[in-house]
Amino acid sequence: MPYGRLRGFQDITGDAAALFARAEAAARRVFGIFGFEEIRVPVLEEKALFARALGEATDVVQKEMYEFEDRSKTRVALRPEGTAGVVRAYLENNFHKTEGLTKFFYMGPMFRSERPQAGRLRQFHQIGVETLGADSPWADAEAIQCLALFLDRAGISSYEIKLNNLGTFEERGDFRQELHRFFSREAGALCEDCGVRLVKNVFRILDCKNPSCREIVKKSSPITGYLGKESRGHFDAVCEALSAIGIRYSLDPYMVRGLDYYTKTVFEVSHPKLGAQDALAAGGRYDRLVETFGGPRAGAVGFAAGVERLAMCMADAGAAEKFSENAYFIVTLGERAFKEGFKILSALRARGVRVSMDFAGKSMKSQMRAADKSQSRHVLILGDNELDGGTCTVKDMQTGTQELQPLESYLASLRGKE
Ligand code: HAM
Repeated sequence: MPYGRLRGFQDITGDAAALFARAEAAARRVFGIFGFEEIRVPVLEEKALFARALGEATDVVQKEMYEFEDRSKTRVALRPEGTAGVVRAYLENNFHKTEGLTKFFYMGPMFRSERPQAGRLRQFHQIGVETLGADSPWADAEAIQCLALFLDRAGISSYEIKLNNLGTFEERGDFRQELHRFFSREAGALCEDCGVRLVKNVFRILDCKNPSCREIVKKSSPITGYLGKESRGHFDAVCEALSAIGIRYSLDPYMVRGLDYYTKTVFEVSHPKLGAQDALAAGGRYDRLVETFGGPRAGAVGFAAGVERLAMCMADAGAAEKFSENAYFIVTLGERAFKEGFKILSALRARGVRVSMDFAGKSMKSQMRAADKSQSRHVLILGDNELDGGTCTVKDMQTGTQELQPLESYLASLRGKE
């Protein structure tokens, strides 16, 4: 095989594909209830769009984007996340001029050239929502409840929601200066990476996993002391709303995010099946992004979940069932039965019934093996005896029982999955 997959890129098949489909179905169902409408934005955008939105100094922009010059010499990048493209589309299609909120959901591949490991890929998939034109703290609570109900519906339990308040850009500027002063004094005791972070993006020191850095971080003052009345009031209202609707969460005053556009509320969802570093989903408020792209002042909040990570946590909720209840396989013996079987196959499919059969003239034994592989619950066996008697033998693959059925009425009783 001369060509292999690129490192960090995956083919998604079998059970994994079924889990992806289950996550997407849960998303469509729950997001629909919350009034989010689907948006599909391009996978390729101008690089400057992401650099501006996510922050020039972020790891994603500095190190992880797949970027290149296209044939017309435009610097483009494969999208590393969904929010920037959605905000661009919101403005470009004039959604900001319509009254009230704009609520979008999206799902699709994202690209980051990170070091691949379990649950961390270079092409991964996100399912996310964005509410644009919303300043109210109730919109933050709504987004978090939507995420929780989505995870529940996808069959994921024992996840944990952590919240923090990052304040406004201005408040964060003062906090940055203080952190810089504090960590400069401790520079000798920081790990090598944090030495670089001190120069490039001091906030990232706060989520360093190195135990000695963690000790130093604990001695630093959290952002809470730098937040103004308005930011604190907003965040308190979010917490109150979540408590009122019974969503459990904990506060993490040292939580920072890898993208710079956040203001006020940020949140992350972790799961014991993922390592300490990796979140199942994350999001927050980004009140300045629409303005940054030349739009009006418009508050916004959203989140995205990583589908590969969802699948890792869904697996214990029972992978795909062995047999599909409403699926059938036709096994035929001899040419006459094959021709009759093909007519039955086509008629059933036209009625929406999931059914398959073998076209290669295989033995009865290998047709039964193919039936098993197809995971069909019921196998219809047709031979000359059955055809002469106007019957078919029906085998239930789960119980192993076999019954002779009157052909016409049995076929008439079959239904596709609703
Ligand atoms: P993010 O935290 O960068 O946020 O990514 C969200 C989720 O995508 C992560 O929690 C994780 O599950 C998944 N993810 C990220 N990188 C990878 C990777 N290399 N491999 C596998 N999964 C990954 C955002 O992207 C924001 N746009 C979320 C948001 C929406 N904020 C507001 N609205």
